[in-house]
Amino acid sequence: MNATQNSGDVANDVNNIAADNAANNLNATGEAPLLAVRGLTKKFPLRKKLFAPPLWKTAVDDVSFDIARGQTLALVGESGSGKSTVGLMLLDLLAITSGEILYDGRSFASRSRAERFALRRQMQVVFQDPYASLNARMTVRETLTEGMAVHRIGKTAAEREGRAAQLLGQVGMPAGALDRYPHEFSGGQRQRIAIARALSVGPSFMVLDEPTSALDVSVQSQILNLLRRLQREQGLTYLFITHNLGVVEYLADEVAVMEAGRIVERGTVDEIFDRPQTDYTSKLLRSIPSLDPEHRKLAPVA
Ligand SMILES: Nc1ncnc2c1ncn2[C@@H]1O[C@H](COP(=O)(O)OP(=O)(O)O)[C@@H](O)[C@H]1O
Ligand SMILES: [Mg+2]
Repeated sequence: MNATQNSGDVANDVNNIAADNAANNLNATGEAPLLAVRGLTKKFPLRKKLFAPPLWKTAVDDVSFDIARGQTLALVGESGSGKSTVGLMLLDLLAITSGEILYDGRSFASRSRAERFALRRQMQVVFQDPYASLNARMTVRETLTEGMAVHRIGKTAAEREGRAAQLLGQVGMPAGALDRYPHEFSGGQRQRIAIARALSVGPSFMVLDEPTSALDVSVQSQILNLLRRLQREQGLTYLFITHNLGVVEYLADEVAVMEAGRIVERGTVDEIFDRPQTDYTSKLLRSIPSLDPEHRKLAPVA
């Protein structure tokens, strides 16, 4: 056997492995992505007129992507482009119209009710407005222990409370916050509490839907740094939804750009910033407040 044949065999093997991996949803290292989305579509019924055929608004249109374990995909697009709808479907909070969501290599549809309930623990969410998403009548203690009780984490109330105090420490809040109510805190502190609540059930995947969009710029970077640290410490996988490309560099490994329900562009942060392929992405880049191309990385806040 000569050298040419040898290298040809190697090339064939590599191609075969790549084809096998693609068929089994594996990446180059042979590991299945934590989350794989295929042809995801959501149509909302529009108000039906008498005697007229029903009309549908396609909010999410044939969307596909993978997120590898421990990585962050940023889903970026203007308001109304379908980002939150994608997030809600991933969280099993909104029924899909068609397509497939695979978590840990298995589709949602193939799971039993009990398995889907267990998945809710694995997949948590942090929304934009912690004032709206935190229950104003619940103390921080109640907010942080509720999910633990539902998912039977901790044997006793005291054990759950101990865990709640630990969670506060992890998000940079004093344990004394346990007996207080959401309105007693600033926007940034409330978002820290919302993050602690998400962490309380030990998730592996989080949807972060505009987690800093309602916050002052200085507070935004603190929360993004917190999310990045938590990701590193706990090996979390993120879908980071934002209309503001200016914040993606804090967290994102890859960026998918959404326009009118479709993903129109996808790449690494550098590819998207340095070589945008669509006018739409260029427009999003231009709309970042005071973006300086030479110093676009905002200084991290400790
Ligand atoms: N429950 C709903 N019923 C009807 N239309 C909806 C509903 N939720 C979202 N939409 C529409 O779907 C589109 C995408 O919305 P959304 O996912 O919230 O966008 P984004 O998060 O990117 O701002 C918008 O046109 C919105 O009006
Ligand atoms: Mg949204």
